[in-house]
Amino acid sequence: MKLWGGRFTKPTNQLVDEYTASISFDKKLATYDIEGSLAHVAMLKACKIIPAADADKIAEGLQIVLKKIEAGEAELSEEHEDIHMNVEKLLIEEVGAVGGKLHTGRSRNDQVALDMRLYLRDAIGTVIQQLIDVEKALISQAKANLDTVMPGYTHLQRAQPVLFAHHMMAYVFMFQRDMERLTDSLKRVNKSPLGAGALAGTTFPIDRQFVADKLGFDGICENSLDAVSDRDFVVEFLSNASLIAMHLSRLCEELVQWSSAEFNFIELDDSFTTGSSMMPQKKNPDVAELVRGKTGRVYGHLMGMLTTLKGLPLAYNKDMQEDKEGMFDTFETLKGALALFAPMIETMQVKQENMYQAVTNDFSNATDLADYLVGKGMPFRESHAVVGQVVLACINNGKYLLDLTLDEFQSYSALIEGDIFDVLKPETVVNARDVAGGTARKSVEVQIEQALAVMEELTLHE
Ligand code: ARG
Repeated sequence: MKLWGGRFTKPTNQLVDEYTASISFDKKLATYDIEGSLAHVAMLKACKIIPAADADKIAEGLQIVLKKIEAGEAELSEEHEDIHMNVEKLLIEEVGAVGGKLHTGRSRNDQVALDMRLYLRDAIGTVIQQLIDVEKALISQAKANLDTVMPGYTHLQRAQPVLFAHHMMAYVFMFQRDMERLTDSLKRVNKSPLGAGALAGTTFPIDRQFVADKLGFDGICENSLDAVSDRDFVVEFLSNASLIAMHLSRLCEELVQWSSAEFNFIELDDSFTTGSSMMPQKKNPDVAELVRGKTGRVYGHLMGMLTTLKGLPLAYNKDMQEDKEGMFDTFETLKGALALFAPMIETMQVKQENMYQAVTNDFSNATDLADYLVGKGMPFRESHAVVGQVVLACINNGKYLLDLTLDEFQSYSALIEGDIFDVLKPETVVNARDVAGGTARKSVEVQIEQALAVMEELTLHE
């Protein structure tokens, strides 16, 4: 007999049971569901809605059910549809009919919203921790490469030299924004919907704040209709996760490029790469590729959830059961990627020599020649044109700027003097950009300080 079987004259068609059941995936909520029920029953007792002895019996029973589920000893069945009714069934098996008092003043609609919030609160905490680890790995590479000059790109064409440390720090600031967004989202996740009942509240003299306090929530959802139909916090998580996945994917793309023979800027550690079953020489950046590839499913879950919610009338609709798999998969996908990322970055070998070679054999110091002429009083547009001619002549003669003699430089502009050879060196070019946020060593050191300060701040507030 189903928990809601009273008004039915026939058993449910088995296909309906199979189709509507969520137990195969929402069993992941078991511990949160029981945690919520323990708080609820403590409140029922405190408010004298059920006798204290019954409440104690229920609480004891719930602890046993929890242990059994954790040990894999409890039988969870499709017939009982979801985790909420399975737990209730198991509880009744354990303590008898008194277990049926647990659901007083509560609906699965506020219960499931509660479970989702409890799950997500933990998941967000885990992701924040993992992002800190990734940032630490990036910062350690940045610190080790404060003198490593590499080509900086626009349009994937060599543009101006930058420090490898500067490049690493760019990702640190992306992940910091991700952490900020996640931390901010907790304000909206961490509110208790319990007490909203099915949609309208309940006739029992419950104490919503009691439950919220017990579960460590910052407050209660203000409107019962909103409390049971709101999944904005899930969308927000999926959206924040999509940005994280996108940031990871961009870095992965660079790792894949940099570890190719064409770039040869880094070598990923053997323990974070894989081989080919056919080509014995291969060492593939599979992890980076797979993290890049899994971005698709994370974006997909965001679009899926937004689409599921679009057009749903208030309040709860069964459509909303579709909120779970995408959320679980998103968290697990991110967790897997982030766990690998920190050590993969940490152990990556940076080929400083090759990067330096790349900035020497190119024209990424051309802007500095133009800026030099501006410093001597030439309008920038004019100096841009002069340097364009110098570069063209160099290309035609198979030379780079630093291969020219002073005479050759002066044939383009009499303003050029002997100091030009130092001005055009990659190190000088980099360190000339000591504007705030720039690529000069000093500026990058400031960025590292700033990032560490923000990280500390976020860690303290957890
Ligand atoms: N399994 C359901 C879900 O995940 C729980 C809430 C069901 N409520 C209901 N009235 N059918 O959404």
